[in-house]
Amino acid sequence: MELSRPRCRLWRELVLLAGLLACGIRQASGQIYISPDSLIGFKGFRTILILENATKDAQEYSWHRGANDTVDNMIVSYKPPSNSWQMGPMSSGRENVTKIGDLVIRRCALNDTGNYTVRVDTGNGSQTATGWLDIQEAEGKPGIWANASSLVEDMDAVAAICHTNATTVKWYVDYTLVSSNDRMTISPDLKTLIIHRVSRYDRTLHCEIESIPEIFQRSEIISLTVAYGPDNVQLSSSPIISKGVLSAKIGSQVMMECSATSKPSPKYQWIHSGSLLSFSEANVTLPSLAWEQMGRYRCIVGNPVTQLTMYREFQIQPPREYSSPPLPVVNSGFYISGAKVVWLIVFIVLGSVYLCGILIYALISHFSTRCLLPWVEGGFLRVYDVDMEVHLEEQP
Ligand SMILES: *[C@@H]1O[C@H](CO)[C@@H](O)[C@H](O)[C@H]1NC(C)=O
Ligand SMILES: *[C@@H]1O[C@H](CO)[C@@H](O)[C@H](O)[C@H]1NC(C)=O
Ligand SMILES: *[C@@H]1O[C@H](CO)[C@@H](O)[C@H](O)[C@H]1NC(C)=O
Ligand SMILES: *[C@@H]1O[C@H](CO)[C@@H](O)[C@H](O)[C@H]1NC(C)=O
Ligand SMILES: *[C@@H]1O[C@H](CO)[C@@H](O)[C@H](O)[C@H]1NC(C)=O
Ligand SMILES: *[C@@H]1O[C@H](CO)[C@@H](O)[C@H](O)[C@H]1NC(C)=O
Ligand SMILES: *[C@@H]1O[C@H](CO)[C@@H](O)[C@H](O)[C@H]1NC(C)=O
Ligand SMILES: *[C@@H]1O[C@H](CO)[C@@H](O)[C@H](O)[C@H]1NC(C)=O
Ligand SMILES: *[C@@H]1O[C@H](CO)[C@@H](O)[C@H](O)[C@H]1NC(C)=O
Repeated sequence: MELSRPRCRLWRELVLLAGLLACGIRQASGQIYISPDSLIGFKGFRTILILENATKDAQEYSWHRGANDTVDNMIVSYKPPSNSWQMGPMSSGRENVTKIGDLVIRRCALNDTGNYTVRVDTGNGSQTATGWLDIQEAEGKPGIWANASSLVEDMDAVAAICHTNATTVKWYVDYTLVSSNDRMTISPDLKTLIIHRVSRYDRTLHCEIESIPEIFQRSEIISLTVAYGPDNVQLSSSPIISKGVLSAKIGSQVMMECSATSKPSPKYQWIHSGSLLSFSEANVTLPSLAWEQMGRYRCIVGNPVTQLTMYREFQIQPPREYSSPPLPVVNSGFYISGAKVVWLIVFIVLGSVYLCGILIYALISHFSTRCLLPWVEGGFLRVYDVDMEVHLEEQP
């Protein structure tokens, strides 16, 4: 395993680039130092100790084990711009210096931990810097365990534990990063995930840690089998069912199919007029419809794991027979044309006038000597007979 830490290199290059852009040349001098960010390494990985503030015209870079820069504890040195590297007594064969003076240690071991001293020689004296390198055990692949893998949607809970010493743990459900919400809880130490009510989409679980900065390790994937349904129970048939009625003639073929969304696959049962039929398939075909096969049908869909059952019902009926002379289509009740209405009104008015005339004539001829006062009051024609205290009412 040989992995560098891209963040540090990138940062270093950006700083260099910025320096070059700003000054045209690398900063002439100043106190050199080893970048503190580069002083952490991980067992098995490559570490680069980054030299900062070194002069561009250095004549030699030499790295030493310990806090001082003697020849006895030298690891490796490089004299730019030559191609000459020199190994020292403290070299393990895994170290090297870059042309800008950084120390590269491949496949770090825990006992690489300790002080490192760099010396930069210029024509005009030398500078040294010391730093403490800490090599840590990289976190391995985390383990994962869950207390159940066969579950029922909306009923069951599952708890999973991520086995790691890492402090940064991320949880993924169906390969999607999750956080605590109303359906699931992640423990404060991030190592336990509890899904309180599993859903059909909770197909997998895994955890992931940052084993060294920017290097992630993923656990095994745990597959969950979540039973659900039956949902969405539907009937289809030939001929088609309309408003719960399937119209078919005696002797014709009838096909009926029941379908549902369910995991595992559901069990089907058919009931005809109260009695259980022998088929337990989604599809039922009646090749030649008999009179006794008419009536009410019910398709029952059951999920043996969720123990939920749904049904749909319909009726098989003979087609409605039409009476021999087909009735004329009557447009929503009794109907008469506009011209007929006018004639009807004229007829009624003339009839009323005629009847009134006869009545008035009869009254006049009977009480010819009396005084009659007609009044129109509140829409009624009132004829008062003053003397006899009798009145007649008539609607106009
Ligand atoms: C790096 O060099 C600059 C001057 O060139 C100096 O001001 C700065 O203090 C130096 N940095 C360190 C950490 O010594
Ligand atoms: C490492 O170097 C520092 C000074 O830079 C010194 O104080 C410390 O004692 C050294 N540690 C060891 C173990 O040599
Ligand atoms: C190197 O450092 C050690 C302590 O770490 C010290 O005892 C010794 O005198 C130093 N040697 C030189 C040459 O500076
Ligand atoms: C150090 O690196 C240079 C090139 O960067 C290479 O030529 C040289 O062989 C390396 N030395 C060792 C000991 O790996
Ligand atoms: C560091 O440990 C390795 C084994 O991991 C061993 O081979 C090596 O000799 C040790 N080096 C020192 C300086 O103790
Ligand atoms: C040596 O460095 C000092 C300051 O560090 C500077 O004043 C002097 O000019 C330098 N000499 C040469 C020959 O570069
Ligand atoms: C798994 O753990 C959850 C949360 O502690 C619990 O509710 C559930 O009953 C457990 N399931 C089994 C099968 O033990
Ligand atoms: C966590 O660290 C301890 C000791 O520090 C170790 O015994 C244990 O195996 C580690 N656990 C894991 C999962 O790495
Ligand atoms: C039922 O019949 C339809 C077509 O008639 C077919 O597509 C479907 O696969 C059948 N279903 C079963 C469960 O046999």
